[in-house]
Amino acid sequence: MAIKIDDQHRIFTLHTQNSTYQMKADAQNVLLHTYYGEKTDDSDKALLFYQADRGFSGNPYEIGKRDRTYSMDSLLQEYSCFGTGDYRITSLRVQNNDGSQAAELRYTGYRVQKGKYAIPGLPAVYANEGEAKTLVIRLADPYSCMEVELYYGILDEMDVITRAVKITNQGTKDIILKKAASMNLDWEYGDFEWLSFYGRHSMEMNFQREGIHHGIQAIGSVRGTSSHQYNPFIILCEKGADEIMGSCYGFSFVYSGEFLIEAERDQIDRTRLICGIHPDNFSWTLHGGDTLWLPEVIMTHSGSGLGKVSRNIHKVIREHICRGEWKDKQRPVLINNWEATYFNFTGEKLIAIAKEAKKLGIELFVMDDGWFGKREDDSSGLGDWFPNEKKLGCTLKELAECIVAEGIQFGIWLEPEGISEDSDLYRRHPDWVVGIPGRKPCLSRGQWILDFSRKDVQDYIIERISELLGGIPVTYVKWDCNRAICDKFSRVLDSGRQGEFSHRYVLGLYRVLEELTEKFPGILFEGCGGGGGRFDAGLLYYIPQIWGSDTTDAIERLSIQYGASFGYPVSVMGTHVSTVPNHQTGRVTPLSTRGCMAMAGTFGYELDISKLTQEEKAEIREQISTFKKHYTLIQHGDYYRISSPLEGTCTVWEIADPSGVETLVSAVYHHVQANPVPVRVKVQGLKDEANYQLFLNENFKEKYPGKRLPYGFASGEVISGASLRQFGFVVPEAVNGFQAWQIYIKECSHSCE
Ligand code: GLA
Repeated sequence: MAIKIDDQHRIFTLHTQNSTYQMKADAQNVLLHTYYGEKTDDSDKALLFYQADRGFSGNPYEIGKRDRTYSMDSLLQEYSCFGTGDYRITSLRVQNNDGSQAAELRYTGYRVQKGKYAIPGLPAVYANEGEAKTLVIRLADPYSCMEVELYYGILDEMDVITRAVKITNQGTKDIILKKAASMNLDWEYGDFEWLSFYGRHSMEMNFQREGIHHGIQAIGSVRGTSSHQYNPFIILCEKGADEIMGSCYGFSFVYSGEFLIEAERDQIDRTRLICGIHPDNFSWTLHGGDTLWLPEVIMTHSGSGLGKVSRNIHKVIREHICRGEWKDKQRPVLINNWEATYFNFTGEKLIAIAKEAKKLGIELFVMDDGWFGKREDDSSGLGDWFPNEKKLGCTLKELAECIVAEGIQFGIWLEPEGISEDSDLYRRHPDWVVGIPGRKPCLSRGQWILDFSRKDVQDYIIERISELLGGIPVTYVKWDCNRAICDKFSRVLDSGRQGEFSHRYVLGLYRVLEELTEKFPGILFEGCGGGGGRFDAGLLYYIPQIWGSDTTDAIERLSIQYGASFGYPVSVMGTHVSTVPNHQTGRVTPLSTRGCMAMAGTFGYELDISKLTQEEKAEIREQISTFKKHYTLIQHGDYYRISSPLEGTCTVWEIADPSGVETLVSAVYHHVQANPVPVRVKVQGLKDEANYQLFLNENFKEKYPGKRLPYGFASGEVISGASLRQFGFVVPEAVNGFQAWQIYIKECSHSCE
């Protein structure tokens, strides 16, 4: 039973296969959080709490005269409130009609629902009735008529619990929400660290690990999108936890807008974690009867290290967030013309790339920025989603048909949220731009942003894009968003409701995406925010893959993809092989290394194919067939981080079939040394009792014909699963700078003779 309720003692215990979560409504009707961690029994964990009088931590009136140990400032709570005696970071801050900022939530009841709840207008984990259950706990403020429902979705097989919140004003007087987080989680004890992923344009998802110290630490975004700067995913773990050991919690915020994840270690070393919409640009008025749903948080716990937390999150994103035809369908190997031509192309040039690409086994040609309106550089044309036929030398339909006739699919780049000052759309609708009347909105990449919080703007975009896509044989759309949002203001919101703009923008974006993806179920959408500027579980509900970074340098991608691997599966990571010297860094890496990196993602190319040598073309053919051979394993297998790009000489990762029949080990030397220390890989995910053969993948082997490679095994040798796990093997040495190797390990029957 995933949900156990002890009605007499008002204890709610949620069990997943390997974790337990518990709450209890106490005698004061406060909903306490009593436990989250490794799976245990249903017993009342609140009995083990230790409460003492913490001078200057006050007590609720009804109990304060007789018990000074009972304080909102030290109790472990399920959803904490600002203004009534809890001085820590809190999840809810409201402004009542009399101007006071105070709320107290008391337990009023619960219900259990079949299946997994959904959230109107927002992305959320979905599941069929048999896979999930929902518990809803009702809280209310006895003074203000505000009701707060806490939603818990339990996917026990996945080891996942989701949380969401619904707030309703059941009175007649307005309530203004100033902060309304989606999750509050308290721990009574523990020495925690957290892993967060920070970055910048072209260098997203940098790994950072710090202790949770006294005071408040936070990551977040006030940039309109989830941002390059901080990703809305974190891991909290016990000190010293590593890939295979230790208690670890993963939290993924299913939201593409502004967020705040904050942690506080308090006066008595208790830790509180809060995750939700960023309060800086948020306030929301609830008139009597109004309701607001807050976005979802996915939580998972593992008692066996960081790797398992990542794999739990990967699985739930792959199977219960991503939707549509492309969720499980084999995605095409693509070629994108951006780094090949930038804005400088003609229809003929594009057709030539597509023709050549087809010969190499590439399946989809993507026409990037520059095909529409007046768009010779990034300073004009955004918003005018009409083809520039002069530049293309034909209509868009003719171009697409001509490419499709070559036997390769056609895809297109769009940035529907963007608008240039120099565009017909702006000239027609200057009021559609996000900006504060009387001020000139800040430019970023020379452009502005359309007010997606407005229904008329959403309707226009849905109509224009539908017409465009409906008229051409297109199977792929790259949905870009190339700036952050500031000067936040919507001309259709009252002055008292401008604090709703940021969230309404995201709701508008979700509506547009929902309608377009429903209308065009056969089109594969790829998200992009100038690379990974909007890389989050929320977007993945609409769009099953996101361009990982504008950096295509294989070595920089090692750390970007390493960081991303903590919270996102390989199947959502957009990755391409590009040319050398690399356009962002000037670095030269072997083609095989670039291929190896790109295979840890959706896989494609982004280079001028006409400049390749015959040998390079042959290698690309080989890469594509290697990728296709291992497609199912790579996209659906279990991901293991073996070594990090931030230390040592070689980054190693492994993708194993969940039943332990095969695994693909990839190794890239990020640091080349003379007289190197051997790089040993202890293989995970295999069966101890089975025998395996190790093979060097063809495109790597070919370069060393007839040579026994400088490593600890010979291709085809038979080794037991137990030996591979306990003792492992040594990765071949680097023969070139930034050398990569792929080693395929497959179970063989009996002795593999
Ligand atoms: C962004 C994307 C690139 C490319 C350009 C086009 O930067 O991340 O891949 O599409 O826009 O302007």
